[in-house]
Amino acid sequence: MKAIVITKYGPPEVLRLEEVEKPVPRDNEILVRIHAASVNYGDILARNFREISPRKFNMPLLLWVIAKLLFGVRKPKTTILGSEFAGEVEAAGKAVKRFKVGDPVFGYTGQKMGAYAEYLCMPENGAVAIKPAAMSDEEAAVAPYGAIMALYLLRKQNIRPGQKVLVNGASGGIGSAAVQLARHFGAEVTGVCGTPRLEYVKSLGADKVIDYSQEDFTGSGETYDLIFDILGKSSFSRCKNSLSPNGRYLRASFKARELLQMAWTALRGGRRVICALAPGSLEDLLSVRELIEAGKIKTIIDRRLPLAQAAEAHRYVGHGHKKGGVVITLAEYL
Ligand SMILES: NC(=O)c1ccc[n+]([C@@H]2O[C@H](COP(=O)([O-])OP(=O)(O)OC[C@H]3O[C@@H](n4cnc5c(N)ncnc54)[C@H](OP(=O)(O)O)[C@@H]3O)[C@@H](O)[C@H]2O)c1
Repeated sequence: MKAIVITKYGPPEVLRLEEVEKPVPRDNEILVRIHAASVNYGDILARNFREISPRKFNMPLLLWVIAKLLFGVRKPKTTILGSEFAGEVEAAGKAVKRFKVGDPVFGYTGQKMGAYAEYLCMPENGAVAIKPAAMSDEEAAVAPYGAIMALYLLRKQNIRPGQKVLVNGASGGIGSAAVQLARHFGAEVTGVCGTPRLEYVKSLGADKVIDYSQEDFTGSGETYDLIFDILGKSSFSRCKNSLSPNGRYLRASFKARELLQMAWTALRGGRRVICALAPGSLEDLLSVRELIEAGKIKTIIDRRLPLAQAAEAHRYVGHGHKKGGVVITLAEYL
């Protein structure tokens, strides 16, 4: 089969179209013929992991060590990137019960990756589900990662109608789903992003948008019941005065400092810091599918590029140009 393979870490040019062996599903696996895959934060990070020092890594040191071992220290062990996909079940192992040949599916492979290829094997109990009927393959391929992360992190926050939520990093994979989910939970939502993406974040349903290059949201005098910082560009000390008395400061990216702040603020009460890791589970993907079917989550495609141009897709995302999902399409191989 055709796949985009990396044999060394580096810039987008390391992504090369090659012929590799087609995978064979085990008894509990399905073989998915990929129609579309996405380019997300994790793909860019994994392609260039050699350059990612513990300081540049947005998570605690222990997770950096685990990621280093998993991705490969000197050269990539994960040679096919791509963690989100949509496609069709081509074959099913004999123990598979949830799927049959021909089912349209979408899913999230997590750090195992492997979606920049014509075929991918997924365990039947992995994060793979029937694709929402209303979405195209391309729209479905950019939905799973951001939406399952945002849903897992936000639904524990018990957002009530009328509460005020600020999403710092509202135009990214997780943030664009977080804006829509917070609205779905009834909150008034402020999205913070860069200048080129203000209209995009508005189109996702944000009540207000703030351009981080023009304004520091912590200086506006506004207070929020929840500040959800995706990339960790703010800090609890700076956000404290922008939180309501029992407000929560939720971090998708965090270090040891935020973990200590979480423990301390939980003991003390009042404004709290919360850090959590989303597992990327099937259960969350199924909830995401329901929300998509109910019209609560949509995805907007910015760019579509064929598999052979995966490097160009990475370049485009790396330059910070994207306004929505960037999709790698495999239509020419179908
Ligand atoms: N906790 C978990 O379970 C979990 C799971 C997966 C990932 N993560 C973490 O989530 C992060 C990736 O999130 P993502 O996939 O949504 O990333 P992404 O798609 O790259 O989006 C990044 C967002 O951050 C915004 N941003 C950039 N500079 C900013 C600044 N100075 N101030 C405010 N916002 C700024 C970007 O805005 P513009 O593009 O408009 O400039 C964009 O909205 C990583 O740090 C990763 O470690 C956590």
